[in-house]
Amino acid sequence: TASFREESMATASEIAAVGVIGAGQMGSGIAQLAAAAGCAVLLLDADSAALTRAVASISASLRRLAAKGQLSQVRRVDLPSYYPTQIGPGHSVKDAAEAFPSDKFWVRLVFQAACEDSIKRIRCVSTVQDLREADLVIEAIVENEHVKKKLFVELDKITKPSAILASNTSSISITRLASATKRPSQVIGMHFFNPPPIMRLIEIIRGADTSDEVFAAVKSFSERLGKTVICSQDYPGFIVNRILMPLINEAFWALYTGVATKEDIDTGMKLGTNHPMGPLQLADFIGLDVCLSVLRVLHNGLGDNKYSPCPLLVQYVDAGRLGKKRGVGVYSYGQKSSNVKP
Ligand code: 3HC
Repeated sequence: TASFREESMATASEIAAVGVIGAGQMGSGIAQLAAAAGCAVLLLDADSAALTRAVASISASLRRLAAKGQLSQVRRVDLPSYYPTQIGPGHSVKDAAEAFPSDKFWVRLVFQAACEDSIKRIRCVSTVQDLREADLVIEAIVENEHVKKKLFVELDKITKPSAILASNTSSISITRLASATKRPSQVIGMHFFNPPPIMRLIEIIRGADTSDEVFAAVKSFSERLGKTVICSQDYPGFIVNRILMPLINEAFWALYTGVATKEDIDTGMKLGTNHPMGPLQLADFIGLDVCLSVLRVLHNGLGDNKYSPCPLLVQYVDAGRLGKKRGVGVYSYGQKSSNVKP
């Protein structure tokens, strides 16, 4: 029953095995975070080429962080005996960093060990059945409610009764996804930001039936990943996208109506408001198709014309100009191929 499931549900410290579905940019970043925090990770994608790319990008990202001594997800790692006694077996990466604050050589070596240890924790799998042992499953598949619901039905059947099912959706209702399962109290939104290893936030979304226990477990698990947590109720766009997407849309309106060039719009917001990227560059980074889909969810769900997508954004998406991933969006990106129609 639901109450039995709530009582026996894994707490944050008991979340030992994490299933991540979707080996794209978000899924691979989430898998990396969970592995670096010491979890056994099952990374699932039906496309074996996507899995190969994901493992390569996780290794590269971990190496970049390790080289800088910045694997923020500090955990115990069984270091080999040839390390100095202060940081040998039984000591954590944090102990090492503290033992040798000024000795970059040892700190780097220890972070390197943590990085290799993390990579070994990731197992690539190809079917949902492989997620039977997961304590927490985080899906980061295509942003389509019908496809996500089908996946939740399957996960509900296959995962153990105590497992928590989380979605990395950027705007689809958690309550509706939860209603596809017989365990709505154990369904929750865990919204990561791109790139997950670098961005410091996780937005947690409570569906109408998400239990306090599940919320508490996912919150402390997110903190274990080194992130700050904010909590949103289940309304369209949650907190961040509700505010970010109208900003991006407005930048498209400014471009569409000839207020300024794309470069000046972006420079204005970068230097005038200290954003790391201008809104048009950020839209390309996120994917123009994703921005459009979130705006449509906001427009349909909140019924206000201020969320109506700018025609220029719609036209770019229609033309296949989806942003950085396609080599062209508002801007063009080097030699990458694109499917843009003229
Ligand atoms: N793994 C490890 N390190 C990484 C990394 C990764 N995946 N991505 C970037 N880095 C590191 C780089 O190595 C670099 O390190 P260094 O400073 O020591 O050399 C550092 O991060 C900065 O990277 P870059 O020099 O390549 O480039 P930038 O300084 O422009 O930083 C950025 C890149 C962190 C992406 C920054 O531009 C930024 O913060 N942009 C805004 C991103 C943002 O807003 N994301 C949220 C989008 S909304 C979303 O995701 C929600 C969805 O629902 C739509």
